[in-house]
Amino acid sequence: MRGAFITLEGTEGVGKTTCLEFVRDTLAAADIPAVVTREPGGTALGEIIRDWILKGNHGRLSAETETLLMFAARAFHLDEVIRPALDAGHWVICDRFSDATVAYQGGGRRADKGWIQSLRAAVHADLEPDLTLLLDAPVEVGLNRIRTREPDHFERENRDFFARVRAAYLELARDEPHRIKVIDATPSLPEIESRISGHMAAFLGVFSR
Ligand SMILES: Nc1ncnc2c1ncn2[C@@H]1O[C@H](COP(=O)(O)OP(=O)(O)OP(=O)(O)O)[C@@H](O)[C@H]1O
Ligand SMILES: [Mg+2]
Repeated sequence: MRGAFITLEGTEGVGKTTCLEFVRDTLAAADIPAVVTREPGGTALGEIIRDWILKGNHGRLSAETETLLMFAARAFHLDEVIRPALDAGHWVICDRFSDATVAYQGGGRRADKGWIQSLRAAVHADLEPDLTLLLDAPVEVGLNRIRTREPDHFERENRDFFARVRAAYLELARDEPHRIKVIDATPSLPEIESRISGHMAAFLGVFSR
């Protein structure tokens, strides 16, 4: 049986990477080892594309070019890491995936969402995440948590951009409530972890049946 594919999503600084560790620990406690990876990135090529995009020294990068770069990195990541791991029965936890492209390049940059979804189908019609944890908070909450970091290409965007990203994420969650679980990311970490535990327990019950 193939492993489960779990993704974490949300705007800047909401706690994706922090919560990913908690998901990994929850699985480990249930004797389920998991491969942890991230997007953009996860492969040597993906990390080069990530670095190039996030450093932001590329002049004018259109929404469409940005989208295609994300899917190029993703196609390679799926071939090299995600599908082989799942096929071998491992679970995969990925920090951002295609929902992020719909939210950032579609919502934020206003690339055509229908076009993005058609690329999504072209690249991985065979595979969607089994569970997506969407950490949701007002944009300021996340940006405040990372205000001491040097801002990257996206973090230099304005509030309206992030408001559109957040709205696009929530729209995806409304369309796919079974897959995408919205978690209020404003409370303390223990409170958020307890909510994630609830979703994980329900998911483990269904997926391993
Ligand atoms: N619930 C929380 N309350 C307060 N601080 C938090 C909470 N969750 C995470 N943090 C802190 O906020 C900062 C950002 O968290 P983290 O790096 O996990 O966010 P992220 O969503 O992965 O960010 P990025 O979008 O930059 O990848 C970290 O310093 C983390 O310790
Ligand atoms: Mg992170």
